[in-house]
Amino acid sequence: MNDSAMTSANTTHRVDGMNFYTRKWVRPEDLNANGSLFGGSLLKWIDEEAAIYAIIQLGSHSVVTKLISEINFVASARQGDLIEMGLVATRFGNTSLTMRAQVRNMITRKSILSIDRIVFVSVGEAGQPDPHGYSSITYERDRMPVV
Ligand SMILES: CC(C)(COP(=O)(O)OP(=O)(O)OC[C@H]1O[C@@H](n2cnc3c(N)ncnc32)[C@H](O)[C@@H]1OP(=O)(O)O)[C@@H](O)C(=O)NCCC(=O)NCCS
Repeated sequence: MNDSAMTSANTTHRVDGMNFYTRKWVRPEDLNANGSLFGGSLLKWIDEEAAIYAIIQLGSHSVVTKLISEINFVASARQGDLIEMGLVATRFGNTSLTMRAQVRNMITRKSILSIDRIVFVSVGEAGQPDPHGYSSITYERDRMPVV
């Protein structure tokens, strides 16, 4: 299957190696005073999406946001629009995972933003960086933490 294909297993849309896992419906509570999508709502969704991605990749619930690089909002969304969020791991460090993110408006087909680097760190019980032991992307659920 090529990168632009719609995967049959989970209907994830993959473009240029980036999987678009989650779609959101822009609701009234997500708007700013201008009537367009509030940036803070979008950042919350992205941070949560990146956390879930990091948990699946690093096999641990204990991951924290370390860094989000420059965010340039290039287009917006209005109430009722559908947006989709894409993530791909770009670097597996010793304790960290770096991801690239993109958010698109499915109605206007415009890119809303892209983020070059979102860094999550795997931490131990005392909150200290903890080696995760992985070096490549999994597309399965084989590292899901078991409690
Ligand atoms: C995450 C945390 C434990 C890391 O502690 P630290 O003292 O920076 O640890 P280190 O210097 O050993 O770095 C740990 C990893 O983060 C990476 N890192 C640290 N600072 C970084 C930065 N500014 N940019 C990118 N990566 C960074 C390091 O390269 C290292 O990665 P590696 O092990 O894969 O090589 C600590 O900063 C922390 O607890 N921060 C708060 C996290 C949090 O609460 N997030 C939620 C937001 S409210």
